[in-house]
Amino acid sequence: MGYKKIYARYRQQILDGLLKPGDRVPSIRLLANELQVARKTVETAYEILTGEGYFVSRGAKGTYINPELRLTPKANAHKPVLSRSPDIQAVERKGDLRLGIPALDEFPHKKWLLISGKAARSLRPEEMLMPPVMGFLPLREAIASYLNISRGLNCLPNQIFITSGYRANLRLILSVLAQPNDKVLFEDPGYFYGQQLLKRIAPNLHYIPVDRQGMDIDYLQRYHSDARFTITTPTHQSPLAVSLSLPRKHQLLAWAQQNNSWVIEDDYDGEFHYTKKVIPALKSLDMHDRVIYTGTFSKTIMPAMRIGYIVMPQETVTQFNELGEILETGLPLLPQKILAQFLIEGHFYRHIKKMRLLYQQRRRIMLEAIETSFPGVFEFELTDGGMHIVAFLKRGIEDKALATLWTEHDLCVKPLSNWYAQTQKRYGLVIGYTNIRSYEQAMKIFQRVRVETMALMGSAWKTEIILR
Ligand SMILES: Cc1ncc(COP(=O)(O)O)c(C=O)c1O
Repeated sequence: MGYKKIYARYRQQILDGLLKPGDRVPSIRLLANELQVARKTVETAYEILTGEGYFVSRGAKGTYINPELRLTPKANAHKPVLSRSPDIQAVERKGDLRLGIPALDEFPHKKWLLISGKAARSLRPEEMLMPPVMGFLPLREAIASYLNISRGLNCLPNQIFITSGYRANLRLILSVLAQPNDKVLFEDPGYFYGQQLLKRIAPNLHYIPVDRQGMDIDYLQRYHSDARFTITTPTHQSPLAVSLSLPRKHQLLAWAQQNNSWVIEDDYDGEFHYTKKVIPALKSLDMHDRVIYTGTFSKTIMPAMRIGYIVMPQETVTQFNELGEILETGLPLLPQKILAQFLIEGHFYRHIKKMRLLYQQRRRIMLEAIETSFPGVFEFELTDGGMHIVAFLKRGIEDKALATLWTEHDLCVKPLSNWYAQTQKRYGLVIGYTNIRSYEQAMKIFQRVRVETMALMGSAWKTEIILR
């Protein structure tokens, strides 16, 4: 490689915004070594870049992209996606009312840091090899024990498959157990990202309506009794947060047994139930091992953890094992080791207990603040748990416009109608409340959108009256 090519590459990276003013570049010796070229070649390229003002040399401190460099927007314009995407993500990820994020202010940082340090220091040579595909054994053991105690399961560690979360769970289960044209059922409304994923990976996808008792199992039996997979959120339906009634649970399990079908239970936030005792998982009633239980640490620890799991029915363990070796490579070991210790030392249980109380308070605060800030706009069908509330629009169908307005003001909520596939839609906002610390904070946040919301809803009401 000649100096011209090195010069051109750096110049392009700077113009594209991939290298920014103030960034340090490698030393001449290091880069020459890396590219296997003579030092003189790199030196010449650096001299030209310095001469043109792209680089500045700070002697022994190294060479930097000129901090004074002011690039015109035009210079960046031909790569808009690359240079803009981090900002878009930041907006997506921010937002005071984002769904399903644990209370970040209450995360036990000190404990976590302590355990992380210990886990890193105690990393043994064999733990530095490829991680086990099914997961780090102490974590599998700790999860099995937690599920048996807290969620009413009766599983063994060899049934736990550690994954990177919900989407990985669905992909893996269907890859291992489904034939290409197997009928797959999903709730309607249902978890937005689940629906989007299934539309792509399950060609024979159908929807089952949800009412106040959860998924309508009569409907399932009437129209889709030949289904091979039913994916459901029985503890807190996503998004309506209703619980699948006990008779329906039994009806669903009996159907699965008779039909030799699989029920995939997504128990994403089953830990958080407030007014009654925590509801045991559907899997706890499953006498014939037809339920494939799935869970995640995104709601109890943090979404960035990217650790979820599948509880494989015993008869499928070998299949998962064999195909897992081909499809998966196992998750990074260190986070699994940290998480295992967090569970084993009992911090997980204490943390959940604390969060259960906290979320109950924060939910009440949020409901009060919504009622006060937007009188007459929303109504609620109060459910017993979960990490979000659904504020149904009393009138009008403007939930998409409303969600856009709120999100523009950094509130980041979702329009309920977007989560429906084909049954009759309902309209409202799906709102997270777990990071709202006080009533005052909630009121202040709603101040940002109060006037515009009332105006928008006022015009929606007028339109409705005219249409009538
Ligand atoms: C219904 C539902 N299932 C599962 C999950 C968990 O997803 P993951 O484990 O990929 O973070 C979520 C998170 O928002 C969810 O809402």
